[in-house]
Amino acid sequence: MSYDFYKILHFIGLASIWGALGAATLHAMNGGTKATNPSRKIVAATHGIGLFLMLLGGFGMLAKKQIPVGDGWVIAKIVLWLVVGGLLAVPLRAPALAKPLWFALPFFVAIGAWLALTKPF
Ligand code: HEM
Repeated sequence: MSYDFYKILHFIGLASIWGALGAATLHAMNGGTKATNPSRKIVAATHGIGLFLMLLGGFGMLAKKQIPVGDGWVIAKIVLWLVVGGLLAVPLRAPALAKPLWFALPFFVAIGAWLALTKPF
């Protein structure tokens, strides 16, 4: 598989995760709960599969470019990935955070892109 293949996997994962996070956040902003969300399984599955594809694409790119997993920016991205993995639970458990999360979501992508593009540490 080529470097571009892994990058596209990374982006399919990214799009899936953020689609699911947007859906869950909108549901909570509209006063929805777990019980009133018949699509919650599909949202959770999309988030989970997206996380997997993002990790697969990320490690694939690292292997292609022979970048060590121990580099600081890579560790920071793995931490970011863990945080993003926990975000799906936030809007339903803390509905007051749903609206701030809605506006914060793009900035998590910005941090991931900044880490990959500038490799600051
Ligand atoms: C949810 C967290 C993450 C976000 C939002 C994110 C976002 C991005 C974005 C937008 C790019 C494209 C930058 C470009 O145009 O080159 C990128 C590239 C990349 N990401 Fe991620 N990423 C995340 C997690 C990860 C993880 C966990 C890994 C490693 C296991 C990783 C490894 C990489 C690599 C190796 C590149 C390409 C760097 C290069 O071309 O030199 N990312 N990421």
